[in-house]
Amino acid sequence: MVVATSPDGVIGKVGLIPWHLPRDLKRFRSITMGHPILMGRRTHESIGRPLPGRVNVVVSTRHGYQPEGCTVARSPEEALRIAADSGAEEAMVVGGERLYRHFLPTCDAVHLTVVEGQFDGDARFPIEQLLASAWTVEQREEWPADDRNPFPHRYELLRRPPGH
Ligand SMILES: NC(=O)c1ccc[n+]([C@@H]2O[C@H](COP(=O)([O-])OP(=O)(O)OC[C@H]3O[C@@H](n4cnc5c(N)ncnc54)[C@H](OP(=O)(O)O)[C@@H]3O)[C@@H](O)[C@H]2O)c1
Repeated sequence: MVVATSPDGVIGKVGLIPWHLPRDLKRFRSITMGHPILMGRRTHESIGRPLPGRVNVVVSTRHGYQPEGCTVARSPEEALRIAADSGAEEAMVVGGERLYRHFLPTCDAVHLTVVEGQFDGDARFPIEQLLASAWTVEQREEWPADDRNPFPHRYELLRRPPGH
C-alpha cells in the first residue's frame, strides 16, 4: 500500500490530494514503477490517465466502465487476481479511502508518507487502524519543507512482522 496522509488521516478533498509535494510524487513513481497498481474508480478519475509503466487496475462496479489503458475489476479481490495473473509478485494499492480500508487488514507493507500540516478533507486514511497493528519500521526519512515542497513530511516503510 502506498499512501500520503496528514497526521490525522486526511488524504483527499473533492477528489484531489490536498497538497503538492513533487518529492513525494517522485518517490511514489519509483516505488510503484513496474508493479501493478490497484485503485478505486475515483482515484483513477482524479489522476485522469493510466500511469505509464504499470498495469493500472481500476475497481468499479459501473456497468460498461472501461477507461482507456486500464483493466477494470469488479471487486478488490478481482483486482488482486488480475495483478497475480499478470505474473507480478507484488501489487501496490494506491487508494483511495475505500480501497485503503479494504486492503489495510491484509496488506504486507505500507509505504507511508505523513505530511505535517492541518488539511480539510473528505477522504481519510484509517490511521487508527494502522496504529492498532504491529509494524516493523524498515526505513524512515525526514524531509523538511523547501522551495518546491511546501510542507515538511516523513516517509516510513512499514512491514507486517511474520505471524501478524
Ligand atoms: N493522499 C493519497 O495518497 C491518496 C491516494 C489516492 C487517492 N487519494 C484521494 O482519495 C480520494 C478518493 O477516495 P475515495 O474513497 O473517494 O474513492 P476510491 O477508493 O478511489 O474509489 C471509490 C470507487 O471505487 C470502487 N470501489 C472501491 N471499493 C470497492 C469495493 N469494495 N467494491 C466495489 N467497488 C469498489 C467504486 O467504484 P464505482 O462507484 O464505479 O462502483 C467506488 O465508488 C480522492 O480525493 C483522491 O485524491 C489520496
